[in-house]
Amino acid sequence: MSTKDIVLELFEKHRGFYISGQQIASELNITRTAVWKAVKILQKEGYKIEAVTNRGYCLDKDADVLSVRGIRSHLNEDCSGLRPEVFVSVGSTNTLCHEKAKSGEAEGYVAVAGAQTAGRGRRGRSFYSPAGTGIYMSLLLRPHGFTGDQVLGLTTMAAVAVSESVEALSDKKAEIKWVNDIFVDGKKVCGILSEAMYEVPSGALQCVIVGIGINAYAPEAGFPPEISATAGCVFDKPEVDLKNSLVAEVLNRFMKYYDDPKSDAVYDEYRTRSMVIDKDIKVLKKDATLKAHVLDIDRDCGLVVRYPDGTEEVLNSGEISIRV
Ligand code: BTN
Repeated sequence: MSTKDIVLELFEKHRGFYISGQQIASELNITRTAVWKAVKILQKEGYKIEAVTNRGYCLDKDADVLSVRGIRSHLNEDCSGLRPEVFVSVGSTNTLCHEKAKSGEAEGYVAVAGAQTAGRGRRGRSFYSPAGTGIYMSLLLRPHGFTGDQVLGLTTMAAVAVSESVEALSDKKAEIKWVNDIFVDGKKVCGILSEAMYEVPSGALQCVIVGIGINAYAPEAGFPPEISATAGCVFDKPEVDLKNSLVAEVLNRFMKYYDDPKSDAVYDEYRTRSMVIDKDIKVLKKDATLKAHVLDIDRDCGLVVRYPDGTEEVLNSGEISIRV
């Protein structure tokens, strides 16, 4: 953890109260200059920290700040074995988890960040991950005895867990756009990127990293023009502890499905929340865009479509577009 992460954790513990630079420096065994530098970076990243001469620093009592303590306080007892670590900012939580996995980290590690400088999306795209308004989290799993389909189903479990959590913590309805984007009020509020690592040459599954990016709030300056028409957020205004609650809620719900991979519950929820069934869509193939009508979603979450010439196809991956 970097100095700014540790300093922020201390502020979180004393939220709403002033602590002097000297007090922080002695408690964390760092210099006052290091404290000052960390505060400057945190303020630049959007954290509301007041600095008053002779009193010290104070984190706004109403700030919604991600913290290990906060996340843990909302985790169910059967998730107490999960090991969340919170960062103010990282390159990519998925990449960080990959590195952890390579150095032998066990299942249950969760990297949670308030910002990403190199957030990754599906199909090699980047994922907009500004400071202060989003939640970027990756869960390291080492599934045992999972079939290939069950491994693919981990993304479905995440999509359902996020949708349920959004609805539990807001008054909004969450829908899933195939394959696994979460939409609220017709706008994308969450993207999921699952990545697996296999052993060479045995091909044995080593780990799966489930990465979830959620726009909790709208960025102050709005979303950048290239995504402003499609991106939305879950909550209308910040509230203390909402981000920690959302992270924990997602983990609680995801682990329930993960512990019972043979259950139909996740598929039923996925299908019920689908925003594409019975809709006209466009299937974006490598070299063509085809009009199609969605008939259903099958048990493996394949999209059953009918083309205008009457032929049918089950799509197992790929990209579609839908007018929302
Ligand atoms: C997509 O919509 O294309 C998927 C986006 C996935 C973004 C999340 S944010 C946390 C994790 N870290 C990353 O770099 N990507 C995923």
